[in-house]
Amino acid sequence: MCGIVGYLSHEEKPVVSIYQGLKKLEYRGYDSWGIVYLKNKRLVAIKEIGKLKSEPTNLPESVLALGHTRWATHGGITKANSHPQFDCTGNIALVHNGIIENYYLLKKELTQRKHKIVSDTDTELVAHLIEEKVEKGMTIEEAVRQVFRRLKGYNALVVMDKMQKRLLAVKTGSPLILGLSKKANYIASDINALGEAEELIILLDGELAEISENGVRVINVSDGREIPKQRIKMVEIEKESEMGEYQSFLEKEINEQPQVLERIVQEDGVQIKKIITLAKKMDKVILVGCGTSYFAGLVATEKLIKKLGKWVITVLASEFDTYVNLLDEKTLIIVLTQSGETIDVLDAIIKAKQKGATITSVVNAPYSSVQRVSDVCQMLSCGMEKCVASTKSFVAQMAVFDIALGIDLNQRIKNIKWILKNKNKINPLAKMISQKQHLFILGRGKMLPIALEGALKIKELSYIHAEGMAGGELKHGTLALIDKDSICIVLVSKENTNEMLASGLEVKARGATVIGIAQRKENVFDEFLPIRGKEDDEQTEAVVWLQLLAEKICDLKRLDPDKPRNLAKSVTVK
Ligand code: G6P
Repeated sequence: MCGIVGYLSHEEKPVVSIYQGLKKLEYRGYDSWGIVYLKNKRLVAIKEIGKLKSEPTNLPESVLALGHTRWATHGGITKANSHPQFDCTGNIALVHNGIIENYYLLKKELTQRKHKIVSDTDTELVAHLIEEKVEKGMTIEEAVRQVFRRLKGYNALVVMDKMQKRLLAVKTGSPLILGLSKKANYIASDINALGEAEELIILLDGELAEISENGVRVINVSDGREIPKQRIKMVEIEKESEMGEYQSFLEKEINEQPQVLERIVQEDGVQIKKIITLAKKMDKVILVGCGTSYFAGLVATEKLIKKLGKWVITVLASEFDTYVNLLDEKTLIIVLTQSGETIDVLDAIIKAKQKGATITSVVNAPYSSVQRVSDVCQMLSCGMEKCVASTKSFVAQMAVFDIALGIDLNQRIKNIKWILKNKNKINPLAKMISQKQHLFILGRGKMLPIALEGALKIKELSYIHAEGMAGGELKHGTLALIDKDSICIVLVSKENTNEMLASGLEVKARGATVIGIAQRKENVFDEFLPIRGKEDDEQTEAVVWLQLLAEKICDLKRLDPDKPRNLAKSVTVK
């Protein structure tokens, strides 16, 4: 969450390039944005509330500039709380991604020492803490090191030092990557925003990078010793994803799914097969993820239990602590994450490693933190996913496990193409649902994770309260909500046909409209979307219908498909 991008250039360079970099990072947060640059030996800042809508025309050229796009944590969405934040002198500017957990203590100290604190952010406190140390004669670099060691939580900070014309970047948890080129050096939260960089350096936790006129130097925050860093050539990295002929990244990413699966078939899952081999040898297999990735974990778990004939569970990364004491050397962790940067997932990995567990992962973003800390990592090869609501990465996550389990995906690819061609079938259903405030999606067994994922898509994209749930649980409470105004989508798999039709009848008897997603049109359905494939493909086909439904409702309600309110794609705060 929050995107950071900055540069130091040998020659003056348009500051608007920082705005363009922020555009590429906007998926990380879009509550407000800001840029600071050096002009005539002064730091000049601009800040705006909301998304990056129109490119500023009045930005000059500068050798040093730094930008930030915010996902609000401490303090409301105001200009004062937008980054960059400054110290009392206005000489130290900084941007931040993370949450400073000892915020209250630090704020109390600084207030007692009469600092003028103008925002409600935790970020601003860091600027004042650095200021105090510099006033006492410390170099900014030393001050940043000392202050950073006082901060609790996962944080990435970039400080602009106007006196020495440099950027100082330091991190724990949240990602920061350096981009190097002949003309300028960069720092950013994501490779995507690294300008025309030719090489990159990945900053690790506890490292501080200095970008100055002398080049780039990385030191250890604890002892100040220089760390030799590997430079990675940028050539093999996909830096940009264009919308092309589509109206939104959501539309593009839904439509790309057949090609994504074709790629997965071609690549044949070398690493995921290794992960499955490891799973066979281990006593405990635990899949870990958040959001959509968690639901993909649930899909994989059901298949792994069948295939391996042993206990496999999926755990929400944010609830991982409950299980930590049970972990040991015979535990295999399989992390699922699109971004590879979700902080709850990284936190779970650290705890599992301490217990001696083997860490494996299925990740989409190359060079991400999860990929780096995994013993074995299967890349998803989805290409960059930019829409905040995950679509193609979910379908790809399911597919890589299927490949490893020997399931043929060719018919699935054809069937998704058919659904995409026939997507108009969902128009009347979308219209009907768009007028409601609640929606229920019921599934059992293998279709339960699809019901949960479908409900998540509807919530994110249409702001309708959608509840995905196990058909069998309906009568234990939720049935009380069902009446003639209710709409229930019933996901019917071959193996649970009778039970799901029973759930459909239960809601129908209370007057609900029933939409069936199933192999066959059944009497209980008022509306019907077909699943054409064999049993292994049912989940993917159902989820593609639900993605299209969510997309259409979003369109009818004229909402932003790529940046739903209050959300961000890469969740780097706890
Ligand atoms: C955010 C995104 C979701 C995503 C979740 C987990 O909440 O908006 O779409 O499913 O994070 O992200 P990950 O990158 O770990 O898969």
